[in-house]
Amino acid sequence: MQKDLGNYRKSYEKSELTEASIKENPMEQFQKWFHETEASDGVDEPNAMTVSTIGMDGFPKSRVVLMKKFTFEGFIFYTNYQSEKGKAIAANPAVCLSFFWPNMERQVIIKGTAEKIAENLSDGYFESRPHGSQLGAIVSDQSEVVPSRDYLEGKLRELEQRFEGKEVPRPNYWGGYLVKPVSMEFWQGRPNRLHDRIRYTLQEDFDWKVERLAP
Ligand SMILES: Cc1cc2nc3c(=O)[nH]c(=O)nc-3n(C[C@H](O)[C@H](O)[C@H](O)COP(=O)(O)O)c2cc1C
Repeated sequence: MQKDLGNYRKSYEKSELTEASIKENPMEQFQKWFHETEASDGVDEPNAMTVSTIGMDGFPKSRVVLMKKFTFEGFIFYTNYQSEKGKAIAANPAVCLSFFWPNMERQVIIKGTAEKIAENLSDGYFESRPHGSQLGAIVSDQSEVVPSRDYLEGKLRELEQRFEGKEVPRPNYWGGYLVKPVSMEFWQGRPNRLHDRIRYTLQEDFDWKVERLAP
């Protein structure tokens, strides 16, 4: 099989990223771009981000999760701590996050370290989830091999009966990770492949060094 995509070509012309216009702090720059993406109405889930981890097998693995919060400290997402990504993070907390907002012709790449958030914060978020999603967190031993879809649906029916009209407790293997950035790169598509790339790198004195990278 073969499909040639050599003719897929697009000129990026929507915006620019200059040293004069960027924020001093990369989280503020992220906030600006995130708000612009939300307001643009052209991305279904602007908070969808790719999380890459280094696996125990030595391979990187990327998957999409939903960012649920960002602050000056970093980025929070929720998952199963015993999943493949959870095990990878336990062995090596170095991760990479990336956002691609095609309608904005923008990409953000974040390198950082992931750590579990405080249990009470995970409790708070778990309680705010719909009943069905809470059960979903319990029903699924995320990333384990299962015999069939029927097996999962049977387990869900069991749990629905057990927790009918009752509060679902957060399982201790489900919760949030905070990714604290050490570097953040902002990419803005430009014409003639001369894209803008600005990278912030965290220094020992906790200041951010700003550099322009060749596209
Ligand atoms: C749009 C989208 C959003 C997702 N959000 C999450 C999420 O917030 N948390 C999560 O654990 N998995 C989420 N997933 C599923 C993950 O991509 C992945 O399948 C799962 O976390 C298991 O990954 P692992 O086996 O590498 O640990 C999402 C997938 C998609 C496509």
